[in-house]
Amino acid sequence: MSRLKDGVYGTNSVFIPIFAADNIFLMDTVVSGIRSTGNLHLGNYFGALKNFLRMQDENNCYFFVADYHSLTTHPHPDDIHSNIRQVLAEYLAAGIDPEKATVYVQSDVPEIAELYLLLNMNAYVGELERTTSFKEKIRQHPDNINAGLLTYPVLMAADIIIHKAHKVPVGKDQEQHLEMTRRFARRFNTMYGVEYFPEPDAYNFGRQLIKIPGLDGSGKMGKSEGNGIFLADSPSEIRKKVLRAVTDSGPEKPGSEPSEAVKNLFTIMGVVSEPSTVEYFREKHASCEIRYGDMKKQLAEDIIKVTEPIRVRINEIINDPVYLGRVVAMGAEKARASAAATIREVRQIIGYRPF
Ligand code: TRP
Repeated sequence: MSRLKDGVYGTNSVFIPIFAADNIFLMDTVVSGIRSTGNLHLGNYFGALKNFLRMQDENNCYFFVADYHSLTTHPHPDDIHSNIRQVLAEYLAAGIDPEKATVYVQSDVPEIAELYLLLNMNAYVGELERTTSFKEKIRQHPDNINAGLLTYPVLMAADIIIHKAHKVPVGKDQEQHLEMTRRFARRFNTMYGVEYFPEPDAYNFGRQLIKIPGLDGSGKMGKSEGNGIFLADSPSEIRKKVLRAVTDSGPEKPGSEPSEAVKNLFTIMGVVSEPSTVEYFREKHASCEIRYGDMKKQLAEDIIKVTEPIRVRINEIINDPVYLGRVVAMGAEKARASAAATIREVRQIIGYRPF
């Protein structure tokens, strides 16, 4: 590879302008892992994914499928592969661009397992036992308290600091894990007297965080609550689910506040429909002329407008193993280059030397 004044020729003779190549070093590094439990819903899409899409333009992003993590529940070997494919297809279909972000499968990067081993030597059983998620698991599955569950936060720390990440977009439920990541990074730096690993911050998109409610009149949309609309749902499934959504017996008097369940439908409408459509139904509600059946029909069609292109794309991608294979190979190569560089330096810092 030869470096010219204002650019670089790659080995494939493609000219890369220097500003683009150098940009990588000016951008923040973002890492986020997605467990391979599949089936994203509207809440995931509007709550998190749309922000991932925005991040991939301005940051050096690594998005991976956390398939080592999924082994804590002992999935059947037949299911592992299809779960990974499903998550990958859904994220790519929703717009994560493997040319912009590094999209990879965790188990393709064994350097992560090595860093996990090294970090385990400085992680204390006491602090791991005190982790909220571990205590919850003990309660939920007392028959399967494996060491992988105990050291889950160490593996997660390895996932993140292997790329020397600055920002980790995760939900509130991951806050404690991220605090532990910061502690493990700091401990490594202190132990060896180096300023090596940055302490990554949780990143949750400030004010734009939207909570998408479920269709059952209460709470937020969830994967297992039975109140969700999935990106992979067909139009007829979506129509059926929306028509069954909880409402009330109609506004009591002109101008009265909508009930919680109806408010939820307006919230979803606010995200998927034209402002004029929302306004129309708000006025109908205010004047007690609203017919919830009409509102639901409109809502279902507007949801389908968002989800249908994604669903079509999910199916195309799932059925294109060549494309998926290409994405995964490219991601593995980029992720391994970054991970191997870190491991090389970490080994030196620890004191391993070539003979
Ligand atoms: N623990 C995360 C979850 O349950 C998934 C995850 C694993 C992760 N490794 C990560 C998230 C690294 C962010 C960064 O959702």
